[in-house]
Amino acid sequence: MGLVRTLIDRDQEYAEPTLPQGLRELYDGDLHFPTPPARRPFVIGNFVSTLDGVVSYKLKDHAAGSTISGSDPADRFIMGLLRSAADAVIVGARTVQDVSPKGLWIPEYTYPDAKHLYSEYRVNVMHKPEYPLVVIVSGSGRLELGRAIFRTPGVPTIVITTSAGRDELAKAGATKLGAVQIHALDASDGSIAPLAILRLLYLQFRVRMLLHEGGPTLFGQFLAAEAVDELFMTLSPQIAGRKADAVRPALVQGLEFMPDCAPWFQLLSVKQKAEHLYLRYRRTGSRS
Ligand SMILES: NC(=O)c1ccc[n+]([C@@H]2O[C@H](COP(=O)([O-])OP(=O)(O)OC[C@H]3O[C@@H](n4cnc5c(N)ncnc54)[C@H](OP(=O)(O)O)[C@@H]3O)[C@@H](O)[C@H]2O)c1
Repeated sequence: MGLVRTLIDRDQEYAEPTLPQGLRELYDGDLHFPTPPARRPFVIGNFVSTLDGVVSYKLKDHAAGSTISGSDPADRFIMGLLRSAADAVIVGARTVQDVSPKGLWIPEYTYPDAKHLYSEYRVNVMHKPEYPLVVIVSGSGRLELGRAIFRTPGVPTIVITTSAGRDELAKAGATKLGAVQIHALDASDGSIAPLAILRLLYLQFRVRMLLHEGGPTLFGQFLAAEAVDELFMTLSPQIAGRKADAVRPALVQGLEFMPDCAPWFQLLSVKQKAEHLYLRYRRTGSRS
């Protein structure tokens, strides 16, 4: 029985199925990705948004995506599916801080019922390691190192930071954590260029498929650098509202596009379960 129902699927030019049958049934269809571009990973984003475009309530204990989706099982299943397809999952420091301290960016953390199906797909079909690499971006290096993501054997984590951030992390004891690596990159005003991050992941970690799980600050920079190829967006049937000073972020925070260079997308698929919609878009460039 499918967890979602496919309403539109325009991604049907592939002859061979990729997903194992159990996942194909739950997803009500197959899932293919194109060959990565030369010299950087193929980058897919995954977000859940309210009908009015809010991705976080930014309230204590209600800042994470689960409040936006209503802990929707199909959203969680698709998140796990995308994690199982990826070589690495990238997140910004504030997204790490806003999830439970036990939070892990591995497939079965979001949807435990499909643990074995994810693993079959990942290990037997795609011949990838058991878990994707977790990539945390922090300019300051001020991270809560007691979190599970820094202390779970078998789940490799790298922190991409500045040289000041590396010193901060070393002072806090991060270099003693077995599963954690720290990489300092050049930064201007504390901000590391998305393309430098992608180059490092591609060349040093052989990442060919990168799942971007936000937040809106980090994701916006990747969009602006033309470094997002696809977007999986769950549309959740609620409205959060925003005050004039807009603390609640939308998909992109901290920068804005002009009409002549705003990214546009082609709709690849639409899936549905009850009142939720699961949209998949591929970037087509700007309209100009
Ligand atoms: N609904 C959804 O699907 C969804 C998905 C993801 C996140 N969220 C929510 O979004 C919120 C977090 O988003 P956010 O936009 O506030 O933060 P974010 O993008 O997760 O993280 C921002 C932080 O990441 C670091 N960073 C970002 N870009 C950087 C760069 N170019 N170079 C160096 N460091 C960089 C900085 O860390 P330092 O301050 O350490 O320097 C910055 O403060 C959370 O509430 C989360 O739950 C929702």
